[in-house]
This record gives sequence, C-alpha cells and structure tokens, in this order.
Amino acid sequence: MSRLRRALLTGALAVLPAAAVLLPAVPAHASDTLRAHAEARGKFIGTALATSPLAGESAYRTIAASEFNQITAENAMKWDATEPSQNQFTFTAADQIVAFAEANDQQVHGHTLVWHSQTPNWVQNLSAADLRSAMQNHIARVAGRYASNPVVKSWDVVNEVFDDNGAMRNSFWYQKLGDGYIADAFRYARAADPDAELCINDYNVEGVNAKSTAMYNLVRTLKAQGVPIDCVGLQSHLAIQYGFPGQVQENIQRFADLGVNVRITEIDIRMQMPRDATKDATQAAYYTNMVKACLAVARCTGITIWGFTDKYSWVPDTFPGQGAALIYDESYDEKPAYTAVHDALAGGPPVDPTPPSTPGRPAASAITATGATLTWTASTDNVGVTGYDVYRGTTKLGSSTANSVTLTGLTPETAYTVHVVARDAAGNTSTASETATFTTTAGSGGGCTPAYRVVNSWPGGFQGEVKITCSDPVTSWRVTLTYPESVRITQNWSSALSSSGTAHTFSNAAWNGSIPAGGSTTFGFIGSWNGTGTPPAPVIS
Ligand code: XIL
Repeated sequence: MSRLRRALLTGALAVLPAAAVLLPAVPAHASDTLRAHAEARGKFIGTALATSPLAGESAYRTIAASEFNQITAENAMKWDATEPSQNQFTFTAADQIVAFAEANDQQVHGHTLVWHSQTPNWVQNLSAADLRSAMQNHIARVAGRYASNPVVKSWDVVNEVFDDNGAMRNSFWYQKLGDGYIADAFRYARAADPDAELCINDYNVEGVNAKSTAMYNLVRTLKAQGVPIDCVGLQSHLAIQYGFPGQVQENIQRFADLGVNVRITEIDIRMQMPRDATKDATQAAYYTNMVKACLAVARCTGITIWGFTDKYSWVPDTFPGQGAALIYDESYDEKPAYTAVHDALAGGPPVDPTPPSTPGRPAASAITATGATLTWTASTDNVGVTGYDVYRGTTKLGSSTANSVTLTGLTPETAYTVHVVARDAAGNTSTASETATFTTTAGSGGGCTPAYRVVNSWPGGFQGEVKITCSDPVTSWRVTLTYPESVRITQNWSSALSSSGTAHTFSNAAWNGSIPAGGSTTFGFIGSWNGTGTPPAPVIS
C-alpha cells in the first residue's frame, strides 16, 4: 500500500463505527515511513533523484520527501552537468536538488567529482598538467559551492577507479596522471570543503572479492599516507540472477575497521523481465540482506536507493531486458522490496548503548622473529562480546573472537607495546586494556618467496615476471635481481624500480605493498641485453 493510500485509509477508519476499529492492532510502527525508522536507528535511508520528474510530478515529490532523509543527485552534480565547458559552471539542476533537500530536512551526498564517465571531451583532451589543474579547479568550484551549506554533508570524490579484477582502471585520469590523481583529488576536496565526508565509490565491491580487496588495500594505503579519505561507497547495483554477494557484512566491517565510514550508495536490484512474484520475493530478500548488513555495522551510515520508482530507473536503458529494480512500481505502488526495506529498518534488536568491559592486560608468549601469542582476561558485555582487536598505538595488529590471538608479520628485533580493545555486536568498543611490551627475536621476517620466470624472449630482449608469495602478512616488499651481465630494464609495472650497475631493485607500488598471509602479488618488466639465445638468469635476493 502506498503511503498516500495508507493516509487515506487511516482517515477512512475514523468514520467507521467504534466496534469496527477494534480489529487486531497494527503495530504502531507498521505505517511509519522508511525515514522515521532509519532516523530511530541513527542511519539514513536515501534515494537518487532525477530533476525532470522532481519538477513535473507531485507523486514523485511526495514520496521523495516523506520516505527518505537523504538525497543523491542522479546526474545533476556530475561534471558534464556542472562544467560542460571549461570554467563555465552551471548549477541550476544541482541547486534544485539541494533546495528540495533543504525544504524536506534531508542530507545530500554529492555525486561525483572525479569520474571517467559523464565527463566532457574537453577534460579528456587536456595535457597532464592542465588536467590536474582542471581537476583542482572543478573540485574547488563544485564542492566549494556547497561547502557552507549544512545539508550537503558528503562527496564521492572519486568514482569507479578500479577494473573488475582489482587493477587500476586504465581511464584517461590514470593514463595521464598515474594513480596519484586519487590522493590529489581527496586533498583538493578537503581544501574545498573541510567538513564534508569524503568518499571513494565503486560497484561490485559489496562482498569480499578481488576488487573490494584492492579497494581495501588502496584505502588502507591512503589512510597510512595521511590522505583525507573518510568513507567508502558500495554502489550495490545487484541482479537477482547473479546471486547475493558473499560476506557483505564482513566486507563492510573490514572497511570500518580501517577507520572509515561505509555507505550503500546506489542500491538497485534488477531482474530479467517480466517481473513475477518469485522474482519479487528474491529481490525483497536481497534488499533485506543489504539493509541488515549495513545496520549491523556501527560505521555503516546508511543506504541510498538508486531512484525509488521503476518509472524512472537507469536499469532498462543500461541492461536490456532487465528492470523492476526499485522498491515502488511504475504506478508508485509499494512492492515487496519496499516492505523488505521498511521491516529491516523497523525490526532488529534495539540499539545497545553498553560497551564491553575493559579486557585484561595482554601477556605475550611464543615470541619469534615475526610473531607472538597474546592472551588476556576476557571482557564481559550485557549482550555479548563479539571480538577483540589488538593495537600497537593506532595500528591494528590482529583480531580474534576469543581472548587470545597469535600475531604474525611482525618485524624482527623490534619492541612492541600493545593493548587490546573488546567490541560487541552493536559496534561498541571497550576502553583500551593496559599495555604490555615484548620484543621479537632476530631472524628474517615476512616469509616471502620470490618466484622468477621469463614470460617471453626474443633476440636481445625478454619479458620477466616475479611472483612474491608470503606466509606472513607484509605491508611492503623489495626484490633485487642481479644479472651476470649488463641487462637494461626498459619498462616495469606493478613496482617501483631502482637500478645500480647489474643490480635492479624492485619495490612495491603504492597500491600493492600489502600481501596477506598466504597471498601473493606479481610484478613484471621488459629487459634488454647484448646477447642472443636464452636470457641471462639473475641472482635473486
Ligand atoms: C547513471 C544514471 O542513473 C543514468 O541516468 C546516467 O545516464 C548514467 O549514470 N554508477 C554511478 C552512477 O556512479 O552515477 C550511475 O548513474 C550508475 C552507475
């Protein structure tokens, strides 16, 4: 039932005889709006808005205003809309969205400052130096315009910087500026609006997979470098025929554990047309899962649906044969997906305000060159302790669900002063335990093994590759290849190179320094030398 019809029905009940209204009581919350429930949970529930129905259709405006407390402009704040020609800014459409949000007490998420798509050709044709200053100017003018507006609270600073396999997308931004454009964009955005929450946004990063792991590693690196990044956006353009992504809550949690907020930025859940009741039910279950995954993590701030009515959705145009991805149908009637979002926001346990008690001081044992076991007195909690995190200063070294953890990947002959923090299911964290200090023994760390191979060779040249596999996690790596004769490295990728005589030292690039336990990474290069036949074999160290 639509909100409008519900209002009418509520009015109609008032004129019925008193006995007729003594029917089974509808729970007080059942007729509440999505935004009322979200507000009660301290989250936002939002929608993307298109400017033409916003101007032209009152049913569109009524639902947008009453059901949602957060708005994203579907297109109005993109580069092609705001700066179609260089330094000619138009904010008519963007301002309409912001004015609507102001009138309806809604927060606005700015979308998006730097993207490879919906960006005019004049931008793409600039030289590297001009491109960087055009980016700075665009961010300064667009984010700067709304910096003092209290409803515009956040920005997608960069959008879709990854390929599906987790490599950097080979966009014109990357080709001209290298991956440094991402950090630059965040710094420019912080300068333009010091109070806005600054986000990186992408699709197919909802569950734990290669692409979300690449995003995780990038966010961790940016944080370590002091780049002002505050938030991660999981677009969540899902399709019921592809199944629900794996480990969504775990994925949200791992980003939260890096100290950034997470938001579901563009959810829609499409199906092969025609629509039927079975597909609607699957879609509703997927919406439930996504909302619940966000509600379960304290740092997940809310959910934005990419539109709300199937009457206006990008899906049929973009994915031929598919549609019906939203929570209202073309006639503005609520679908099972609406009820799913509503009930997930309304239901669940009440917010738990009580953090776990402080864990005991950890005791270190089984200390090796790269590891140690820590054990401490368990915390208690009114609901239940869900886990512990072990920190050295602000760096998390390990996590565990029990009151003991084995740390790996430590540096030999190093003093570690550590403390433990307990957490519960609501995301509350205890105060820090007292610290304990232990020193790792001497020995080689990381347990990394480089595997060298010649991928291809030709007279006087070859393509080489090194795959580094580590038994313990590392956050940086370095491999030196010393050749028996003069070899020149003419090109290298996924690494930084420093050569001295016959020794060539490759170290990690900004984005691939972190290798998890049991993980690996690969870099490659082109070598040339004066000989023919089999390329010379290096000594690897
Ligand atoms: C889409 C809009 O919905 C369409 O109207 C437009 O034609 C193309 O862009 N990821 C994003 C959004 O970050 O900006 C896209 O929006 C959908 C995919």
